[in-house]
Amino acid sequence: MNQRFSGMVAVITGGAGGAGRAATLRFAAEGASVGIIDIQTQAGEQLVSEIEAAGGQAMFVEADVSQAPAVKKAVDEILQRFKKVDILFNHAGTLIVKPFLETTETEWDWLMAVNVKSMFLMSQAILPSMLEAGGGIIINTASISSMTAAPMESLYCTTKGAVLQLTRAIAVEFRDRGIRCNAIAPGFIRTPHGLREMEECTALGVDFTEADMAKLQGRFCEPEEIASVAVFLASDDASFINGASITVDNTWTAAT
Ligand SMILES: NC(=O)c1ccc[n+]([C@@H]2O[C@H](COP(=O)([O-])OP(=O)(O)OC[C@H]3O[C@@H](n4cnc5c(N)ncnc54)[C@H](O)[C@@H]3O)[C@@H](O)[C@H]2O)c1
Repeated sequence: MNQRFSGMVAVITGGAGGAGRAATLRFAAEGASVGIIDIQTQAGEQLVSEIEAAGGQAMFVEADVSQAPAVKKAVDEILQRFKKVDILFNHAGTLIVKPFLETTETEWDWLMAVNVKSMFLMSQAILPSMLEAGGGIIINTASISSMTAAPMESLYCTTKGAVLQLTRAIAVEFRDRGIRCNAIAPGFIRTPHGLREMEECTALGVDFTEADMAKLQGRFCEPEEIASVAVFLASDDASFINGASITVDNTWTAAT
């Protein structure tokens, strides 16, 4: 495979599972050393072995990216081993499917922390070293829920709307210091997250069965199709794309 990230370091949160895992494999296959941050230790360590067996370089650090001390420790460990970070892919995130009136304050604070504060913490931890090196790339996983809303997902939609604005704000503030910050906004991806979302929404009467999903976006998005967009955004091919969001939904939002 093309080694366009040879000599570069990519940090991927949520990099041990779902589309994050696919991105970890893709960045490693294209020559990057990858720092995987996730709460799934076994999956993360297995992935490192897989990458090393294929001749790549990776390290796993267990951390809950919604927690400031854990983020600081994880980033310190990665910087100690790889010395720099060229690419930060803030992919970790999760979902609460619930009627708005039943959503608790605790759930609100928790999901905002996992989906949004995590990107604030990770970006704040890594940006100084990127600025010192003269630039870097940040990619945030948003969602089509950043732009469109679905019933039972008010909290999730709020977090993803915030991710989009954080992306734009970082791009605007740091453009002239060599930083590109963009978002990926997927529709349904065939991952534990996507499958759970369909199941829980359908159970609450939202039209997200597999047949509905086929109408909305034709078929499931595969995790590798998100990884492809991430490597594109991280590459020089995307050199003039900054503060943007790439929708990856096979027409879902185009048709709404
Ligand atoms: N799957 C979809 O249909 C879909 C659609 C749009 C956006 N997204 C977004 O993609 C991201 C993850 O989705 P996926 O589909 O790859 O899901 P996934 O659930 O398969 O994987 C998420 C990964 O993030 C990790 N993670 C979760 N919370 C974490 C935390 N606090 N700290 C560190 N790691 C944590 C998990 O362990 C897992 O490895 C989320 O940001 C989600 O909002 C998913």
